[in-house]
Amino acid sequence: MENFFVNKKIKSIINHSTSLKDDILWFLNNNDSEIINLLFNKANEIRNIYCGNFFAVRGLIEFSSFCKNTCLYCGLNCNNKNASRYKLSKNEILNSVEKIYLSNIKTVVLQSGEDNSSTEFITDIIKTIKSFFPDIAITLSVGERSFEDFKTWKEAGASRYLLRIETTNANLYKQIHLNRTVESRLACLKNLQTLEYQTGSGLMIGFPGQTLNDIANDLIFFAENNFDMIGIGPFIPHPETPFKNDKTGFVDLTLKTIALTRLLLKDIWIPATTALGSMEKDFRIDALLCGANVIMPNFSPDIYKEKYNIYPGKVCISENKKNAIQLLEKLSQESGLHISYEINDRIK
Ligand code: 5AD
Repeated sequence: MENFFVNKKIKSIINHSTSLKDDILWFLNNNDSEIINLLFNKANEIRNIYCGNFFAVRGLIEFSSFCKNTCLYCGLNCNNKNASRYKLSKNEILNSVEKIYLSNIKTVVLQSGEDNSSTEFITDIIKTIKSFFPDIAITLSVGERSFEDFKTWKEAGASRYLLRIETTNANLYKQIHLNRTVESRLACLKNLQTLEYQTGSGLMIGFPGQTLNDIANDLIFFAENNFDMIGIGPFIPHPETPFKNDKTGFVDLTLKTIALTRLLLKDIWIPATTALGSMEKDFRIDALLCGANVIMPNFSPDIYKEKYNIYPGKVCISENKKNAIQLLEKLSQESGLHISYEINDRIK
């Protein structure tokens, strides 16, 4: 009887029924392990049906830790005078891309703070990567930029873009991002989709002020906007930010949010995020067991990994070309999922 009741709610979410929000909230509020197991199993089943029983691999390069923003949660915010700032040269970036290529990985994710990189610098990087490695897909994750910049980079060869919304609650957004608005974030996401980027968004779980109602609204926003990727990780307090004394986001809630995202959006890429791997244990495996299907090993040069200090304890500090492969194999064995080294474009 209980299963019947839970399955009905799961179906309501899969089918986007009118009681969708209530049903999402019901799971977010629920901590009964049997019920949560049903949710996780269904999320895995949906991933396997719509995407396949594998995870995709993307190589991450964090090319600049400079940032002009003041996000209250992030260690790279410009008010953190103790942050180490670096920017990779073109050569350093290309060396990392080569390592990714030689590891058989066919996606490069270029990520940075909002560091005022010139349009031309990024265009040149994209074009050079494409000329040396034509079969590599380029994902950008460099924050809010103009429509023209997005267009230039798309034409240069970038095909994907990651821009987390963090929260769709306009007031909450303002509280955690001083002087910035959710409207400009939404406009960027719209522009990316208009330009036909494979567009990723996402959120942190458990930052100060966020409620379960906010998370439910964010999930509905993701479903309504048909994103190609959704990244979800727990908030981790950084000692050099105004949120230093706040609590870390709950892993259980993060995993439930991942599973619900899988039920809602079905044929999308969901990373088992680095933040989930950076807790008291590596919870990326748990994410793969509740609907996630992407792993992003870090290929920034070792000397810089520690300096890209968004939050403390990043698991990737010890990841390199050799043990990235070991990590992937371990995650594959433990999750029962295959590793896919294909380019893995949009599934939809
Ligand atoms: N804890 C967890 N995730 C964080 N991010 C930024 N700061 C933190 C933090 N303290 C996430 C944001 C951002 C992504 C690159 O990292 O969601 O979009």
